[in-house]
Amino acid sequence: MIIASNFKTNHTRASTRAYMEELDRFVRESGSRQRVMVFPPATALERFETAPQIVTGVQNAYPVEKGSFTGEIGLEQIDEFGLRTILVGHSERRHIFGETQQMCAQKYTFFQTHGFEIVYCIGEPEAVRQKGIEAVVDYNFAQLEGIDLDYGKLIVAYEPVWAIGTGLTASAEQIDETLTRLRRKIKAPLLYGGSVKPANTEEILKIENCDGVLVGTASWDVGQFCEMIAIADRLS
Ligand code: PGA
Repeated sequence: MIIASNFKTNHTRASTRAYMEELDRFVRESGSRQRVMVFPPATALERFETAPQIVTGVQNAYPVEKGSFTGEIGLEQIDEFGLRTILVGHSERRHIFGETQQMCAQKYTFFQTHGFEIVYCIGEPEAVRQKGIEAVVDYNFAQLEGIDLDYGKLIVAYEPVWAIGTGLTASAEQIDETLTRLRRKIKAPLLYGGSVKPANTEEILKIENCDGVLVGTASWDVGQFCEMIAIADRLS
């Protein structure tokens, strides 16, 4: 399974280093079989020397090699750390920073061309969820426009906007129903994200089409993140 942590705007360079050391120790000592991903903030990136199943990625980048894009990072900056994994389309990028589907698709295509593993995020806001499953499916499918679903290094994270950082998790039935519908179109691994924590990890990972979780808040504590990895190890 894939167990991923998105730090968002949390952790410093020093605390990220300490986090990675502790995570690495846990993964090695437990002999974990999970694929573990960590997305630190850009300021804390480095070439972490970790067990091979721990992958470091970037949370965001602009689809250029380099240039005049104040505040952004491009391929050249990512290359310095030898990183080849990126998050694209996270709901905070879409809803707080106004990234359009066109921009998400442009980023996707750029990083696909450069051979990156892409964790591509989709998910509906609450008003859409209230309209029922067909509206949810339509909304999520619209977020796949311009995305090459046959790309071999694609992972899709289904993260309902109303469940991100709110403490509200979608019910197992809602996740199951949505992932089942997404699975008809998407062959890539499917993750669930939205207030995942040790207490609900088992229930979520047991869902048929769920290949892992993308975790924000609960994962910022390395102990809790390791607990979630241990739960995945017990289940697989
Ligand atoms: P959360 O964030 O776990 O804090 O809800 C999930 C995410 O944004 O990936």
